[in-house]
Amino acid sequence: MVPLLVPAAGSGRRMGADRNKLLLPLGDRPVLHYTLAAALAATTIGEVVLMGQEKDFPAFAEIVEALHPVKPVRWVVGGATRQASVYAGLMALPASTTGVLIHDGARCLATPALFDRCAAALAHREGLVAAVPVKDTIKEVVNEKVVGTPPRDRLWAAQTPQGFAYAQIVAAHRQALVEGWEVTDDAALFEKLGWPVAIVPGEETNLKITTPQDLAIARFLLQAHCQNQP
Ligand code: C5P
Repeated sequence: MVPLLVPAAGSGRRMGADRNKLLLPLGDRPVLHYTLAAALAATTIGEVVLMGQEKDFPAFAEIVEALHPVKPVRWVVGGATRQASVYAGLMALPASTTGVLIHDGARCLATPALFDRCAAALAHREGLVAAVPVKDTIKEVVNEKVVGTPPRDRLWAAQTPQGFAYAQIVAAHRQALVEGWEVTDDAALFEKLGWPVAIVPGEETNLKITTPQDLAIARFLLQAHCQNQP
């Protein structure tokens, strides 16, 4: 069993919303409901720690209560950046923790099987990231001018869950504080330190809710999923 940290302290800025995008409705539930439902259904997740803004805690409590979890779910105050929120979550875990999974609250369509796959891989890896091969040709652009085309066969789109040996990810975050590193995912800290990060096959449908279009796509995928249920 591994603990799962869920960064959920963002805002709705890029969504154009006046509140945390994770509290926006997706079908008849808030986005965060689906993220937590999948995490709680994963057999390898022992407890869930949400990192959020204090003003969202009453909404978190409502979402968690409606799920009737049989595992512990708690929430702690996040930080001004995703990185700071993850560090706050790491500090909320007992020092005896051996491994930890980290999954963005905004990736609400990850399946329980993906959490279990990552947790299983963590048994013999010190760092891992769920990822899918990139299908588009990617251009590197500076000042609206294309400056390069990295070979596509080496490109993977990083997702969450990501998983780490606890002592190492704590050390990596502390090093980032000392060095002033700012990263958008936790695997990047391992990479900066030259520590190995393994790929675990992710899911094409594991999108991150960022814009109103993402919400519309997620709604469609959820409906398609429900129609395929027996
Ligand atoms: O903004 P973005 O979608 O990249 O954020 C990724 C995840 O990090 C989201 O689930 C968001 O709630 C979380 N986050 C956080 N603390 C912040 C900013 C973002 O926990 N200060």
